[in-house]
Order: sequence, then structure tokens, then C-alpha cells
Amino acid sequence: MDHFLYRDGALFAEDVPVAEIAAEVGTPFYCYSTATFERHFRLFDEALEGMDHLVCYAMKAASNQAILKTLAAVGAGMDVVSGGEYARAKAAGVPGDRIVFSGVGKTRDEIEMALSGGIRQFNVESEPEMAVINEVALVLGVVAPITVRVNPDVDAKTHAKIATGKSENKFGIPISRAREVYAHAASLKGLKVIGIDVHIGSQLTQLEPFRLAYEKVAQLTEDLRSDGHEISRLDLGGGLGIPYTRSNDAPPLPTEYGAMVRETLGHLGCEIEIEPGRLIAGNAGIMVSKVIYVKEGEDREFMIIDGAMNDLIRPAMYEAHHDIIPVVEASPGVEKQRYDIVGPVCESGDTFAKERVMEPVQAGDLIAFRSAGAYGAVMSSEYNSRPLIPEVLVKGDQFAVIRRRPTLDEMINRDTIPEWL
Ligand code: LLP
Repeated sequence: MDHFLYRDGALFAEDVPVAEIAAEVGTPFYCYSTATFERHFRLFDEALEGMDHLVCYAMKAASNQAILKTLAAVGAGMDVVSGGEYARAKAAGVPGDRIVFSGVGKTRDEIEMALSGGIRQFNVESEPEMAVINEVALVLGVVAPITVRVNPDVDAKTHAKIATGKSENKFGIPISRAREVYAHAASLKGLKVIGIDVHIGSQLTQLEPFRLAYEKVAQLTEDLRSDGHEISRLDLGGGLGIPYTRSNDAPPLPTEYGAMVRETLGHLGCEIEIEPGRLIAGNAGIMVSKVIYVKEGEDREFMIIDGAMNDLIRPAMYEAHHDIIPVVEASPGVEKQRYDIVGPVCESGDTFAKERVMEPVQAGDLIAFRSAGAYGAVMSSEYNSRPLIPEVLVKGDQFAVIRRRPTLDEMINRDTIPEWL
């Protein structure tokens, strides 16, 4: 459920007509709904009710400062994967003890930044990384709270580029070696082992892979406790998928996920941490674009729009499907058309959808990509020297530009010319 609905044939973001925002900020742009962010955060928070827990928003999904502040205000912690994300979380007012540091290759500088600024825990991804965290902590005279990310060798049954829990993936420490690694961690004076971390992939549409992984974590918790470790926190990662289409086989709901967590891990008495990104942000955002031309091809019609792969790369990168809807609803009964929907970038990969059946459009019409709130703006680039597109946040009947479109001069003047030119 989200807050982008038609009213009298016009698409609204909460109580604001999307066309009104387009007229003010120009296209393309991202538009987010505060109410959807809050609602999705609460769904997770409520799903874990009764267990000591913290929902740490995986801010890689959408990391604008205004979004972070919105979520922090309703009680979210943050899951960060770089010094940049850590700094963003702090700048949004999130206290260090609500920030979890994940990520496969944390550098010495990033570790130092987090240990000095305060951190809830590091999710350690390898033994060499563990050694560096220990060293930095000793130099700073502090103790670094850690979990070890274990790789449970479970098939997440998702797109290969976003599966992370198989032994062939670069993530975590093989679960078979976990006891050995924990024994080593316990001997390092700069570290305090507090728990276990696992994350098996993104856009999971079934509970079974999670269940398999969490059962392995439950067993490991007992093994590690019998080895003398105090395991008091389990970080279960993110990954619950969202419906990208309005079909019947929607992914499981947070409540079902929560019930499964309780079933597999509830008896251990651990604090539960989760790191959802997509489910909180995905359907909280749309990308709005304008049709530039409709062009007759030999055997198909191309809808050429002003948004491109640099603005929303998911279709080009993961063959991802986004529903694309008109901002002004077609009159009932109008005959649908088939379009290849493409951007202006000079690559055939700049294709959002092939043979998409939708209401007929004309040059100048506005369209919206649904479910674009997660991994949309954050993955955009200035390829083809197309400036980053603005982000707009709606709350009720208000809206604000939360990242403006840079001018061409601003974009160009970031480059510097060497003396010899
Ligand atoms: N925790 C860790 C350690 C992660 O690596 C990720 C996502 C998450 C949490 C959040 O997962 P989520 O709840 O959002 O599924 N760019 C891709 C998705 C990459 C996901 C990377 N890691 C896409 O557009 O589909």
C-alpha cells in the first residue's frame, strides 16, 4: 500500500497533485511520500512487537537527509555501509548507538570515524577486517562492539546480482567456520562480541530462505553460547521484497516475516535487529517523467521520455519491472497501446520497458514510475552529462524540494582544469 493514488483522474502524492509538483520543479524528478515511509517503518516495528528490537533502516535504499530525518523521528535506527552513510546518519541527528555499520570492506578511516563518533555495532565481514577494527579500537582506547556476519549458504531465490547468502558470494564468513572465528574474536582486547549478523539477499519474495538462514543462526547461537560467548543480539539483515506489480503473488507481509522470526529465534531471548531498505522506501517513491516524442518504429512504437537509465538504472541493471502509469488517467474505455519506453541516452540498454501495454500518450504527457523510491535516486549518475534529478518530499498537502536540480554550470564547474591547459 502506498500514497500515490488517482483522485478524479489525476495522480496525487498524498494530498498534492503530481502535475502541480512537475509544473514547479520540472521533469524528471523523484517524489516521495512521508506517510508511506512512516507506515512501512511501523509495519516492521509492530511485526517485532513483544521482542526487544530495533529496526535499522538500510539507508543505501534512499539516503536523502530529509528521508533519514523522517524515519529517525519515528524511531528508526540506521544501517550504514560507508563513511559517507555514517556521516549522513549523524548529520540527520541519529545517535551513534542507533547506527549499525555493515559493508564488506570497511576502511581504517571509516572504522575510526565510527568509533570516535559512536556506533551500535560493526557487522564484521572477514578476519582481516576484524583485525583492523581491533587495532583501531586499541589505538583509540575503546572497545568496539561487533557481530560477525555469517554466510549461511542459503539460496535466497532472487536476482543473482542481489543474492548474498551463498558460499560463492563475497559476503560474510562461512557459517561452518564461525565457531573458530568467534573464538579468535573473543581473544582480541579491542573487541566485544555481542551477537551474530546475517543477510542473504534483497527482493526476497518467499519466507523459506529466511527461515532456513534463521534456523542456522538459532543453532549457531546455541553453539556459541555453549562455547562461552555472550550472544545477546541477532542482526537479521534486510531483504523482504515488495510487490512491483499489482498481481496476486505479492511477497509476504512484515507481519508474516515477524511471526517467522519469533518462531525461529524468539526462544533465544536475544535483541532482534533488522535492516530493511526496499520495503520501507520502495513504494514510498515514484519517478515522474515527461514524454518527449512518440516515434513510429518499423514494428513498434517508441515512447521517448526525458528520464533515462542514469536517473533510474534498475531496469537496465537487473531487468527490473516498474509499473508505469499516466499522471492524468485516460478516460475509461480508451484503447490501450503497446510501447517500448526508452530514455534519450545513447545506449540500447536505456530501455525501461518493452512492449508495455498502457494508456495512449502524447508528447508532453507526464508518466510516473511506481516503486522507484528504493535504489532509484541513490543509484543515479550524470551519464551523458545529465544533471542529477531533483527529489521532492510530500507530507499531507505540503511538498518540498529536498534535493534541487543542479544547474549545468554547477555540474561543469565541479571539474578542475590542470595548470598546463
Ligand atoms: N543489509 C545489508 C547488509 C544489505 O546488503 C542490504 C542490501 C540491506 C540490508 C537492505 O536490503 P533490502 O531490504 O533493501 O532488500 N540495488 C539493488 C538492491 C541491492 C541491495 C543491496 N543490499 C536493487 O535495486 O534491486
